[in-house]
Amino acid sequence: MRILLLSGPNLGMLGHRDPAVYGTVTLDELVTIARTACEAHGAELVHEQHDAEADLVAALHRVVTGATPADAIVINAGALTHYGLSLRDALDIVDVPRIELHLSNTLAREEFRHTSVIAGVCDGTVAGFGAHGYRLAIDAAVALVSDR
Ligand code: DQA
Repeated sequence: MRILLLSGPNLGMLGHRDPAVYGTVTLDELVTIARTACEAHGAELVHEQHDAEADLVAALHRVVTGATPADAIVINAGALTHYGLSLRDALDIVDVPRIELHLSNTLAREEFRHTSVIAGVCDGTVAGFGAHGYRLAIDAAVALVSDR
């Protein structure tokens, strides 16, 4: 089993970015948490971080064509969560389980973060558990793949 973890804009700045909200954990550390969780299930993790929506869309197209085979997608789309309609449409055409992931509890933050345009094309959302969410999201993805 292979899981694609996608990280959206500004997530590469974790560690420098708004520590009161996101803590001091770096993206590399989060990827290690996700990879360790994958390996505990005998699965493989592939990670891509892109600041541009078009690059995230291209990554999803590679899953659709089989250029990057993936059995499930875990995506922290960053702010694109709230307005990225081409990202939403690309997620919609990928026929594997999709988990929306956020470090913070977006519903407890500013109003613009209360809307997710990708939630409706994902199987479920993990939000508000900080770095633990990276393990929880992998566990959820593996469970959904196993159910298929
Ligand atoms: C985030 C929440 C988004 O609202 C924000 O734009 C991010 C990070 C999170 O992980 O909590 O970039 O996706």
